Amino acid sequence: MGAGTDSGTETGPGAGLRRLVLVTLAATFALVLVGGVVRLSDSGLGCGPAGSGLAGWPLCRGDLLPGLELNAIIEYSHRALASAVGLLMIALAVLAWRGLRGSQRGVVWATFAGVVLVVAQGLLGAVTVELNLDAALVAAHLGLAMLLLGLLLYVWRGVRPEGGRGGEPGGGPGLRRLGLAASAAVLCTIVAGGYVAGTEKYGRADRGESVGAHYACGTDFPACNGSFMPFGQSSLADVHLTHRAFMYLSAALVTALAIWTLRRRPGGREARLAARSIGLLLLQILLGALNVWISEQLELLILAHLTVATLLWMSVAELALELRAGRAGAFEAAGGGDRGGGARPAGEPVAA
Ligand code: HEM
Repeated sequence: MGAGTDSGTETGPGAGLRRLVLVTLAATFALVLVGGVVRLSDSGLGCGPAGSGLAGWPLCRGDLLPGLELNAIIEYSHRALASAVGLLMIALAVLAWRGLRGSQRGVVWATFAGVVLVVAQGLLGAVTVELNLDAALVAAHLGLAMLLLGLLLYVWRGVRPEGGRGGEPGGGPGLRRLGLAASAAVLCTIVAGGYVAGTEKYGRADRGESVGAHYACGTDFPACNGSFMPFGQSSLADVHLTHRAFMYLSAALVTALAIWTLRRRPGGREARLAARSIGLLLLQILLGALNVWISEQLELLILAHLTVATLLWMSVAELALELRAGRAGAFEAAGGGDRGGGARPAGEPVAA
């Protein structure tokens, strides 16, 4: 994102709002990783088994506090961080409403949508616990988390010191569509990966060792049980292959997006995002392959795969947003001042 290096985030009008967006982004990113730790440390049901009702959520083992059991503490820390993200989102929505409603309605609506998403995410988390960490719910939970990060990136683009355009020309319609398609493909790959992960034993008493889709292709990649994409062998292999199919689509679209973007010889931010997306894509494919090639599930490797997936999503989604700059320009159209291709600092008081 390159946000932290902007000296304009430190002072001047709107600096508080900008800092709040960055803190919320960082906390949400951390929340995704802590969610991974919850799953991989078998803590998904740390506050109570499936079907424990309110005693398992929002309470923890029937209490307000988790007690001294490690799994309960880990599960509870995820909830505590999620509550903090919820409060940060509400504060963001209030500040955005007060400072930006006259000039950047899109940004204000995005913060409102963020509040709704956090609430929905909390409820989905509760249902996920209640229904014994059902794979589809685990996947949906991960997908919603990515959408929240995407929304926050959109908000950041609106409030950062150089404004929505950041001095970049934006892409033509074809490139903008490619940006959207690549983001959608990465999101689907992540959700499909979440489903693979959700079929695994972690945290569920009713699961034996490794009955999930992780090794449904054995330790083969890119082959799968002797063929390339042998859909129809078993439902678990299909789950695994669906993740791979979306991965191939993402790889093609992200590569095309990065090449097309770089061929236009863009300014610093777009070039950085394009190069970063390609680098993260390659690293992520390597990590995915290692997860399959190594015949024992390594929690750290799975966590690294989740971390890089999140970074890849953020990078591609931010590039897609950047490419919309030429078209959007809502801030400029609303009369925001121009500071060398940018706009006046967001968050300046506006007339209601
Ligand atoms: C664009 C590339 C990729 C993305 C964005 C991606 C994303 C993800 C995500 C988000 C998860 C869930 C992680 C968790 O919740 O802990 C996952 C799981 C998984 N992915 Fe990928 N992945 C990619 C490429 C690959 C590749 C090339 C392979 C190799 C076959 C692979 C194999 C797996 C496996 C086996 C799991 C299950 C891990 C577990 O047991 O929890 N992934 N992926």
